[in-house]
Amino acid sequence: MSGLCRIAVLISGRGTNLESIIRSIETDYIKKAQIVVVVSDNRDAQGLLRAEKQGIETIVIETKDFSTKQSYEEKLIETLQKLNIDLIVLAGFMRVLSSYFVKHFKWRIMNIHPALLPAFAGLQAQRQAVDSGVRFSGCTVHFVTEKVDKGPIIIQAVVPVYVEETEDTLSQRILQYEHKIYPKAIKMYVEGKLEITGNKVKIKDERFDQNVLISPSL
Ligand code: GRF
Repeated sequence: MSGLCRIAVLISGRGTNLESIIRSIETDYIKKAQIVVVVSDNRDAQGLLRAEKQGIETIVIETKDFSTKQSYEEKLIETLQKLNIDLIVLAGFMRVLSSYFVKHFKWRIMNIHPALLPAFAGLQAQRQAVDSGVRFSGCTVHFVTEKVDKGPIIIQAVVPVYVEETEDTLSQRILQYEHKIYPKAIKMYVEGKLEITGNKVKIKDERFDQNVLISPSL
C-alpha cells in the first residue's frame, strides 16, 4: 500500500483490542497507518472513550434508528466511503455484516475471534472451549467474507486450556494474545505482505514463521 492506510475500527463494547491497535500505531510498530474513525453500534461502548481520549473521531450508528439491516448497512457504507477507508477492523463488533456490506469492501475487512477457527465459531467462544474439554484454544485474525467466522485466516495464537479453567480466566489469557496478533496482522496488511489465494493467506515475509505464535513463547 502506498501512502497512509486509513483504518476504521468498528466496536460494540470494551475496546481493549482497539487500544492495542492505537498503541501499535503510536509506537510506530505499525507504520503508515492511521485510525481515521471508530464506529460503534452502541453509544455506551467503553471503547468510544478510549478513542476520544486519543483525539480519534468517533461515530455512533445504532441499529434502532434504522428499520432494516440493509438501511443500517447503507449508512455504515456511506460513512466509511466518505472517509476513504482502506481497511475496516472489527474489534468486538457484535453484528454480523451481510454480503451486501462485505462486497463493498472485499478483502478489506478483518475480524478477531477468541478461538482457533474453525473451532468454536459464533458467540461465547471461550465458554464453548471450556465446556468442550479441549486442551488448547486461542485466537484467530481472519479476513471477513459473507460466511460468518469462515474467511481466510491470517494469524492464530494457541493458548492452553487448563483443567480448572473458567470462561473468565481463559478469556483473560486469550485476550493478551489477541492484543499481540491483531496489530501484527494489521501491520502485515499495511505492508502489503498478505496474499489471498482461495481460502488461504500467504504471508510474503521470510522473517515471519506462520506457526511461531504459540503460547507460551510469544
Ligand atoms: C474479544 O474477545 C474479541 O475476540 C471478540 O470480542 C472481544 C472484544 O474485546 N470478537 P474488546 O472490546 O476488544 O476488549
